[in-house]
Amino acid sequence: MSKTTSRRNLLAILTITLLTPPTASQKNTKRGIAYLGDTHSADNNLLLSTNTPLSWYYNWSPNPASQQIPSESLAFAPLIHGLDEASSSSVSSAINSLPSSSTHLLSFNEPDGTTSSGGSSISPSDAARSYIDHIVPYRTSSRKWSISHPSTTGSPNGLDWLRQFNASCYDIDGENGCPTDFIAAHWYGNFDGLAAWLGTLDEFYNKNQSRETPLKIWVTELALPQQDAEATVSMMNQSLPFLDGLDYVEKYAWFGAFRTGDANEWTGDAVALFDNGGGLTELGALYMGGEASGYKEGQKGEGASAGAVLRVNGALLACMAVFLVMCM
Ligand SMILES: *[C@@H]1O[C@H](CO)[C@@H](O)[C@H](O)[C@H]1NC(C)=O
Ligand SMILES: *[C@@H]1O[C@H](CO)[C@@H](O)[C@H](O)[C@H]1NC(C)=O
Ligand SMILES: *[C@@H]1O[C@H](CO)[C@@H](O)[C@H](O)[C@H]1NC(C)=O
Repeated sequence: MSKTTSRRNLLAILTITLLTPPTASQKNTKRGIAYLGDTHSADNNLLLSTNTPLSWYYNWSPNPASQQIPSESLAFAPLIHGLDEASSSSVSSAINSLPSSSTHLLSFNEPDGTTSSGGSSISPSDAARSYIDHIVPYRTSSRKWSISHPSTTGSPNGLDWLRQFNASCYDIDGENGCPTDFIAAHWYGNFDGLAAWLGTLDEFYNKNQSRETPLKIWVTELALPQQDAEATVSMMNQSLPFLDGLDYVEKYAWFGAFRTGDANEWTGDAVALFDNGGGLTELGALYMGGEASGYKEGQKGEGASAGAVLRVNGALLACMAVFLVMCM
């Protein structure tokens, strides 16, 4: 290898190193956050700190919250909320230009729910048409996205909607219906209800079907609404080991990663991971892995998280520069 070639190779390596963002969090945990957009950087720094058990997040949109959650820290799962987003070319170009750590695409949010409660209120037949026309093609695009069926509310209405959706899918495409790679589920209620709802979905999609590989479930909204802190902590404490141990659950996200004052009236304050001063609630400390992972109630985040990433890059750059000088 000539000196010029090796120098050129080194320059190429250096360029690639600088242009490629650090790889996404190496953590392979199921735990993530449904991110409403808490803009207190200290809160986000705490969520992204070294021992975080979090590996992923989503925010009900195709656009990541890159300002608050750098793409190297947590993998982002885009979501197509409703029919307008599904057919929008700006949405598809946003999704296809996400970093490669984004691999899973969520579809229609609570189509069986009303728009006033955050749902997308879509009839099963309209959803099936749009899903086949606009969501299914993401699977075979060059990015080969893993796509999910719509995430309904965790209720008999939700199951009923999914049955009608499936029937409409087969009316449109008698051979394939609406193919899916994973299932997205929401649950607001107690632990027994969570276990029952996931069991129902597993039965509907897996046990009652002749599928070679069972579909995995992502629980993308999860909370015990309208209860006090003690009951909420106890429900989470029972749910985390259950979800971590359940083979057919691949990811889950508690609702929500925000301060008490930002909780909505319907869920009540006790679902919040942070208090109004930015300290972890007892619930927040539990979600972060508790004292065993170095998180405790009242703990606050600090510093600017982007700084940590830059420092790592800086160190790498210095190291590469020394190597380059030595070789030239
Ligand atoms: C699964 O199949 C059984 C037997 O046909 C049926 O009774 C049950 O309702 C099905 N489960 C779901 C969730 O559709
Ligand atoms: C969807 O409908 C098809 C065709 O009727 C049926 O074979 C399949 O079991 C249904 N799938 C689910 C998940 O109910
Ligand atoms: C969670 O449950 C375990 C037992 O399963 C118990 O030892 C622990 O104290 C509980 N933690 C909280 C915060 O409730």
